[in-house]
Amino acid sequence: MTVLLDLPLPTWRDELAEEYAELTERLASRIPCLEVSMHLPWIDAINRLKKQRGAVVMAHSYQSPEIFHGVADVTGDSLGLAQAAAECDSGLILLCGVHFMAESAKILAPEKTVLIPSLEAGCSLASSITAEDVRLLRRRHPGVPVVSYANTSAAVKAESDAICTSANAVQVVESMGAPKVIFLPDQFLGRHVASQTKVELVLWKGRCEVHEKFTASQARHAREQFDARLVAHPECPPAVLAEADFVGSTTAMGRWLEQEKPKRVALITECSMADNLRVQFPAIEFIKPCNLCPHMQQITLPNIYAALRDLRHAVDVAEDVAERARAALQRMLAVGRCEAVR
Ligand code: 13P
Ligand code: SF4
Repeated sequence: MTVLLDLPLPTWRDELAEEYAELTERLASRIPCLEVSMHLPWIDAINRLKKQRGAVVMAHSYQSPEIFHGVADVTGDSLGLAQAAAECDSGLILLCGVHFMAESAKILAPEKTVLIPSLEAGCSLASSITAEDVRLLRRRHPGVPVVSYANTSAAVKAESDAICTSANAVQVVESMGAPKVIFLPDQFLGRHVASQTKVELVLWKGRCEVHEKFTASQARHAREQFDARLVAHPECPPAVLAEADFVGSTTAMGRWLEQEKPKRVALITECSMADNLRVQFPAIEFIKPCNLCPHMQQITLPNIYAALRDLRHAVDVAEDVAERARAALQRMLAVGRCEAVR
């Protein structure tokens, strides 16, 4: 459905400086003043449109700070966003993240309209495996249950027994009650999970194109040269995780910082995450080995505005696929969040 509202493009008004003084100050550590003033007309227009539409804007931790802090009503990791979509009251969700996140929201809230600002926002893990690959693996390992990472298409989820995220992967695997589990598609997350459970895992060859670039020597350099604590996402290669003080989902990283309050930290994950946390924890010094996710970066203030204005890019999932994927996602939601941050 496309409804074009007759709205002018957002432009600067002097009152914005005062209306958004608090946000400008919060963002000052990350975004130069001049740049914030370029974002403010869009932020203001989106916030107004959001109210008119009764929409809820959800943003993943890897969204850039002007989105994460400027327009999001709900922020979090992929598990948090899926939980929020399942519980959300609004009939319109705009998801600032990648396509599999918007698809999960639609599957869990089928009666709602879920918009994604850019159809280009994919994921190298999600595109590493197809539903046919899962059926083949099942034939090769008869009777072995399949746990798929949330970073997969709806069609792959529909072929899975349960979904997990980095916030509950070990517990979801163990909840299958089987000695052996097919774990898809991230081989590095799979190896991390395998190191923490007695369940034997059959792994796939998927990798995150962002996290696979980090190296153990970069991690050691951050610790030795900058005396930084190291926090890493489990999609990183095993040698990187071996160097880390803490390994967890994007939300758990924030909680760890809140508890540990390190003087200096290197966040070994997507780059925008450190920008967002720097706004939240101004006393902590962040060493930022910067790898940006090109897919997350497809989401911008102008395309969020256009999506809300024109109700553009509504996500749709065929009901037979959605029904089976929903059962697998609900199995994950029943397990919930299991990360301990210490
Ligand atoms: P989280 O589940 O930690 O949010 O991670 C999702 C993701 O895509 C990381 O690359
Ligand atoms: Fe996918 Fe990696 Fe981007 Fe996360 S950071 S969305 S896993 S490509």
